[in-house]
Amino acid sequence: MAGNEQSQAREQATEQSQAREQSPAKEHSPAKRRAHMPEGTAKIINSRTLETGFPRLAELVAPGMRVLDVGCGSGAITRGIARRVQPSGYAVGVDVNERLIEEARRAHAGVPGLRFHLQDVYAMSFDKAFDLVTASRVLQWLAEPARALERMARAAVPGGRIAVLDYNHEKIEWRPEPPRSVRRFYDAFLKWREDAGMDNRIADRLPDIFERAGLKQVQVTEQHEVARLGDPDFHEKARIWADVAASRGHQLVADGYIAEAERAEAERALCAWVDEDATYQRLYLLAVEGATP
Ligand SMILES: C[S@@+](CC[C@H](N)C(=O)[O-])C[C@H]1O[C@@H](n2cnc3c(N)ncnc32)[C@H](O)[C@@H]1O
Repeated sequence: MAGNEQSQAREQATEQSQAREQSPAKEHSPAKRRAHMPEGTAKIINSRTLETGFPRLAELVAPGMRVLDVGCGSGAITRGIARRVQPSGYAVGVDVNERLIEEARRAHAGVPGLRFHLQDVYAMSFDKAFDLVTASRVLQWLAEPARALERMARAAVPGGRIAVLDYNHEKIEWRPEPPRSVRRFYDAFLKWREDAGMDNRIADRLPDIFERAGLKQVQVTEQHEVARLGDPDFHEKARIWADVAASRGHQLVADGYIAEAERAEAERALCAWVDEDATYQRLYLLAVEGATP
């Protein structure tokens, strides 16, 4: 093994053992287990870019900034951040999922000013190191989003910005109403999340969580993801829940929330609904930002 490969392997082994040691009590919690992204879900996150996946963040990122992207997944959005902060800034992506961090390193090798680390948000020890700290679609998967936000705020310099993007899953809109099997799957998905302590309405709770974390100048921007029949990418966007049924759906089956036949029927019905009936889908998302004192 060449010298730099050896040191990279050592760095990764240290990260892996740190990730295992961090918050051992939480390691086996239902939220931690259910938040784990199974194979197949990367397809959804890989299709995002900074501009399409988090437009408000694209407005905030400027050349020279040091940016931390928490829960970066396979790094599609982080890559866009690194591009925008050039030539003197840099972007660091962290995620608790080893497979996704390895994928991010592989997919974006050679992008200047871009690094990825295996890291649990609850155990982050960054201190006043970043101008902007962001997390998109991550706090929704945590049983303690306020504790995660505190870690994020600590990672930012005084006067630095925190920008979070997340869903209110209860405000999804589908037109026309999809078949009953789809609703059954969606309701089971929400219950499965809620039972693990995740907040299905987190987008609308974020401003309050920001205020309580002591963040200033809290500002909210609507970032709903809308798919309208006639849009060039309508089918791709409207299919997101069919992809969720095909990937995360198996977690619901394994945890006893639905039977495999119900999951398979919801997936089939969602594909048919997108191809034959659907005219509109709105996923409700808010971007919430604030500044550290
Ligand atoms: C829905 S994906 C979002 C990925 C990306 N930010 C995006 O918007 O496309 C949620 C990500 O949060 C990560 N995640 C979940 N819990 C985490 C934790 N405790 N610490 C760090 N990352 C976490 C998951 O591994 C996953 O990559």
